[in-house]
Amino acid sequence: MIDFTLNGNPIRVEVDPEMPLLWVIRDVLKMTGTKYGCGQGICGACTIHVDGQPMRSCSFPASAAQGRKITTIEGLAEDASHPVQQAWEAHKVPQCGYCQSGQIMSAVALLQQNPNPDDQAIDNFMQGNICRCGTYNRIKSAIKTAANASTNIEIREVGGAKS
Ligand code: FES
Ligand code: FES
Repeated sequence: MIDFTLNGNPIRVEVDPEMPLLWVIRDVLKMTGTKYGCGQGICGACTIHVDGQPMRSCSFPASAAQGRKITTIEGLAEDASHPVQQAWEAHKVPQCGYCQSGQIMSAVALLQQNPNPDDQAIDNFMQGNICRCGTYNRIKSAIKTAANASTNIEIREVGGAKS
């Protein structure tokens, strides 16, 4: 058994300890907002937060989630009202959309660590999130808008306490 908190809710799963957490989230728990891209920790599509830090869930064994606080895109807000999600909407960032939940999770983590990032800081932090549609300029604009909208981005976990 592996016990962890997912978006504020206690979760217990019985899975192969080596199973990537991405499969636990998508296939076992049926939460499909987190995407599978490369499966090798390269593209960032599967980015979630583990104890507030961005992680590639395709390369994170389920056993490592034991006792940790996991947040997925579904945990940011019940109604997509998180400041970063609102900025994404305002800038019409997604094209195909496939990479975007990972992009948003990285952007939220960036703004938690650096509430007012400059271009270089955004490039450095976001470089591991690949967008094959090339929405990078809109992502950067949305991050700046979100930074201006709130200098203290918080994760409001659905069904749980703030982190
Ligand atoms: S699917 Fe995890 S980094 Fe690409
Ligand atoms: S929006 Fe299509 S891969 Fe990023």
